[in-house]
Amino acid sequence: MTFSGTRRARRVPLARQHTTRNPGKGGTAVTGSGGYRPWQRSARRTTIGFMREPSGGADVERLASYVATATAAPSLHNSQPWRFRIRDGGVDVIADWARQLAVIDPSGRELLISVGAALFTLRLAIRHDGRRPSLTFPQDPDDPRLVARVTPERAEAVTGVVRALFDAVPERHTNRWPFAPSVVAAPDLEELACAAHREGASLTVAGAVARAAILGLTRTAEQRLRGDHGYRAELTQWTLPSPGRRDGVPTAAMGPWDALETTPVRDFGLALPQLTRPAERFEPFPTIVTLSTAGDTPADWLAAGQALQRVLLTATVLHLATTPFSQPVEIPAIRELLTTQGRHAQILIRLGIGPPTYATPRRPLCEVLMMEPVAAVGTPR
Ligand SMILES: Cc1cc2nc3c(=O)[nH]c(=O)nc-3n(C[C@H](O)[C@H](O)[C@H](O)COP(=O)(O)O)c2cc1C
Repeated sequence: MTFSGTRRARRVPLARQHTTRNPGKGGTAVTGSGGYRPWQRSARRTTIGFMREPSGGADVERLASYVATATAAPSLHNSQPWRFRIRDGGVDVIADWARQLAVIDPSGRELLISVGAALFTLRLAIRHDGRRPSLTFPQDPDDPRLVARVTPERAEAVTGVVRALFDAVPERHTNRWPFAPSVVAAPDLEELACAAHREGASLTVAGAVARAAILGLTRTAEQRLRGDHGYRAELTQWTLPSPGRRDGVPTAAMGPWDALETTPVRDFGLALPQLTRPAERFEPFPTIVTLSTAGDTPADWLAAGQALQRVLLTATVLHLATTPFSQPVEIPAIRELLTTQGRHAQILIRLGIGPPTYATPRRPLCEVLMMEPVAAVGTPR
């Protein structure tokens, strides 16, 4: 993979990024017709049935469209562990524990980070519609799956930042391709740190020593995970292609094989031995940031998820490619080593200038949006 021209020249206006090039073959594929991603098309189709349902003040179709936007959030192995319920003019955000990855995420920390990312996106969609979102965390002992409730309130001007972040939602994708061997500009890193801070988290940029340590720890973590039969089985479960599948990591999004294993990119092809992927040389000195929180409770995990999505969308606005990675925080003893100055590492992100990449599928709105009490959702272990 080659990178040519200056960074500015390579920037593509967000509006033109509806096509994704197949970097392996040099072809171009359109990910959705009429400018819509598959998840957006199904959202448009499935909201129609809800249109006449009353739900307090806000109209249901509007609330459903916010939810459709929220489902574009990133999630661990694209597990999409969320449900939403429209009730009394607001949206209940529900954790779907049946979609927990028991081997790498036994505490549900990464599940709640994923739900937090969807929660931030939901709030953003409401703001983009000119309403102020009120966010509450109802404690319902009868329903431990309910993690938050968001209600659109009074009218509010839509800022340029909100518009830019909202426009970035369908453009943000996890990019597992080699990045250009160039540094990310300091003002961009400052903006990303600010984005994390606004959602109650911190973002630390790894210097040369920390980067070497993180890469070493990630390699150790990846090796430990690979040796675990349960890990391989779980990876198979979330990567095995099947017709019409709308979750998991599809082969096209896995990226090439890092033959030298220098980057922290998770090897999603591991569980598919028949898969032939091109071997690529990755950038030797990746830019890595650690997102951390002061506490390490479920509330902090939810905050970390909101911060993660704000950081990823801000990076997208800055035309930076992103790869969240979490192998080193999936092994408690290794995660401990990443906890510095009392701040708990929640997830790491590789940043850089990358080639266009692929959109992953999302479950249709009718599978995740409830108008009635949620019945068939697992409870926390
Ligand atoms: C908590 C969490 C952990 C993740 N860990 C990794 C990881 O270790 N490696 C990776 O390549 N992607 C990781 N991702 C990215 C997801 O695989 C990705 O969001 C999902 O496949 C959906 O694809 P998209 O981000 O392109 O929409 C993680 C995302 C979240 C929210």
